[in-house]
Amino acid sequence: MSGKKVTKRTLLGMKQKQEPIAMITAYDYPSARLAEEAGADILLVGDSLGMVVLGYDSTIPVTLDDILHHTKAVTRGAKKAMVIADLPFATAHLPEGEVLKSAARLMQEGLAYGVKMEGGIEIVDKVNRLTMAGIPVMGHLGLTPQSVNQLGGYVIQGKDLPAARRLLDAAQRLEEAGAFAIVLECVPEELAELVTQKVGIPVIGIGAGRHCDGQVLVYHDLLAMAGDFRPSFVKVYQDAGEVIRKGIAAYVQEVKERSFPAEKHVTHLKDELIHELYGSSEGETDQ
Ligand code: KIV
Repeated sequence: MSGKKVTKRTLLGMKQKQEPIAMITAYDYPSARLAEEAGADILLVGDSLGMVVLGYDSTIPVTLDDILHHTKAVTRGAKKAMVIADLPFATAHLPEGEVLKSAARLMQEGLAYGVKMEGGIEIVDKVNRLTMAGIPVMGHLGLTPQSVNQLGGYVIQGKDLPAARRLLDAAQRLEEAGAFAIVLECVPEELAELVTQKVGIPVIGIGAGRHCDGQVLVYHDLLAMAGDFRPSFVKVYQDAGEVIRKGIAAYVQEVKERSFPAEKHVTHLKDELIHELYGSSEGETDQ
C-alpha cells in the first residue's frame, strides 16, 4: 500500500490492474494499527465483532452503538487504510430515513469511509438512497451471517442454477444502485469468478475461491485467536492465541513465585529519605 489514503477510486484501479485487494476485519486501535502496518488496504469493522470480541454466538445481537464504539477506535488507528463499518442486523430493512441516520452516524461520529450492508435485490433501493446521500456502500452477498436463522445455518450459497442466477443478478443490481464494492461470502469458486467478471466494481471474496478481486478474513480467525471453531475456508497464518497464552502464563508464574517485578522494574527512594521516612514512622504512637 502506498502513502495515500485508500479510496473507492484506488480499489477500482486495483481491480482494473488486477492487483489483489487485501481486506481484514479490525475492531480496536491496536488491531487497526497492526493491520495497516502489515499492508491491509481495507479494514472492516464487521459485526463478526459479536462473536470474536463480544462473546455472542452470532452477529445478531450486535447493535449500532457497538459498531460505532469500535469504529471510533479503528479509525483512530488507521491513517491510510479504508475503514468500512457494518450496518448491524436488520438495519438495512428499516425505513429509509432510519437507514440513512444509522449510516451517517458511522461516518460522522465513527469517521468510517463508508458502510457495508448485507442483502440482495431487496435492499437495492436503500443502497441507492445512501449513495445519493454521499455514503459509500459496500454490498454483501452469498452467505449473509445476519440471515443465518433464515438461511438454515452457515451453508454455501448459490449452489443451484436459480440461486446462482439470483446472486449474479443481485450483484449487478447493487452495482447499478451505486455500491462501490461487494463482499461475496461462501459461494462456489466458479460463481464468484463469474460475478467478478460481470461487475465493474471490486468483488472481495471470503470462502469464494481464488478469482475474486480481493480477499477478506476475520482478524481473529487468521491469527488463531477465536477458539477452536474455524470455517474450512480460513487459513491460520500465525498462532497468536498461543503466543498470547504463553506470554500471560509466564507472567502469572513470575508473579506467583515473586520473580516479577525484578530490580530493573522498580524505583527507589534516596537513602536520606528512607531514613527520615522510617525514622518518623518509628516515632509515631497509636493514640
Ligand atoms: O462481519 C464480518 O466480519 C464480515 C466479514 C466476514 C466479511 O462481514
